[in-house]
Amino acid sequence: MVTVKINDLEFKKFIPASKLEAKIAELAHKINEDYKGKTPVFLPILNGSFMFASDLIKEIRIDCRISFVKTSSYAGTSSTGQLKTLIGHEESLFNQHIIIVEDIVDSGLTLDKILTELRDRGAKSVEAVSLLRKKPAREKNIEVKYVGFDLEDEFVLGYGLDYDGLGRNYKDIYKAFSPK
Ligand code: IMP
Repeated sequence: MVTVKINDLEFKKFIPASKLEAKIAELAHKINEDYKGKTPVFLPILNGSFMFASDLIKEIRIDCRISFVKTSSYAGTSSTGQLKTLIGHEESLFNQHIIIVEDIVDSGLTLDKILTELRDRGAKSVEAVSLLRKKPAREKNIEVKYVGFDLEDEFVLGYGLDYDGLGRNYKDIYKAFSPK
């Protein structure tokens, strides 16, 4: 599909699955090198990162653990600015090397809160890998060690990312082309 329509918005194909796959292999390669000899805990942030996390972690060749957390600060195409409670991480993350796995960092609110919370809980190290990063996060210098693609301030969906709950199932990433 070249374009898709969800509710009031039209989207056109933006990053095809083949490009995602190549970029994810690169990210995994860097993580494999950087964490050699360590056993990191991957912490995918649900719901949006489920496809990315799955494809990324399949390329990880070092010993690792996986634990999921859930948050949400989005309604429609903009952040509500309020983060719902973090659900999960009941496993002890104390003294662990944690790699947060995000689909997209926009305002950075979600990631910043999680980074702080994990550091306060005594993680040995905390870094983040995000498939996508938008302009507001770059402008605010939000810490993201591994980034797949840098975007402008545009709304995207597919490959786990949704618009009001829809569109997560597409294997490519689409971008909105009607006004927000
Ligand atoms: P932040 O807290 O503003 O950085 O927002 C991060 C979360 O908002 C991401 O994990 C996504 O779930 C969601 N989000 C941000 N931008 C988009 C987008 O363009 N499409 C779909 N979801 C988005």
